[in-house]
Amino acid sequence: MTNETLQIIKTRRVVRMMTGEPVARTNIEQILEAARWAPVGGNQRFLRFVVAEDPKLINLIRMVSPGMIQRPQVIITICADWDKFRKNKVKGHDRSSYIDVGTAMQTMLLASHSLELGSGPVTSFNKISVGIMLNLPSHVTPELMVCVGHPASGYQMPMAPKQKITWESLVDWGRVS
Ligand SMILES: Cc1cc2nc3c(=O)[nH]c(=O)nc-3n(C[C@H](O)[C@H](O)[C@H](O)COP(=O)(O)O)c2cc1C
Repeated sequence: MTNETLQIIKTRRVVRMMTGEPVARTNIEQILEAARWAPVGGNQRFLRFVVAEDPKLINLIRMVSPGMIQRPQVIITICADWDKFRKNKVKGHDRSSYIDVGTAMQTMLLASHSLELGSGPVTSFNKISVGIMLNLPSHVTPELMVCVGHPASGYQMPMAPKQKITWESLVDWGRVS
């Protein structure tokens, strides 16, 4: 018997080569809905997801994003609304702002993979330029972009194979020896 969730987690890879095939709006909506269920610190929701589908806007964003190797059909920018965060801040949850970005990102990557779409996160971009391009108000900052598209066939992972890192090598049981 296989566990589908574990299979999805283990087979997801960042996709940096995508085809020009459009991504169905319903798929994007499923990815966004999945992200809405991601855990958030203090059950506060201060993230905004800004979706770029217009090829001209995507090209502009790519020009200020050296870390965006792929040519995605859709870019979902995970943004932080700092006014909302400050207003609803739960004591001791300062770090949760960036952790929330990560949980939303991973949920989107896994949802994309489960829909047989390719996706990849990008943090290497000019935040000021992207903020202007997306018309973000000053209290909202772009934190991470999730690129989505159909993976190119025969796509190979350009990075070192994961198999060399075992989970055992990352773990200490009890106190660190
Ligand atoms: C916070 C964060 C930022 C990342 N930024 C980029 C980026 O700017 N460009 C890129 O191509 N990949 C980026 N990545 C993807 C990582 O390089 C990738 O996850 C890592 O090499 C492992 O590959 P895998 O996820 O396919 O196993 C980022 C990943 C994370 C978690």
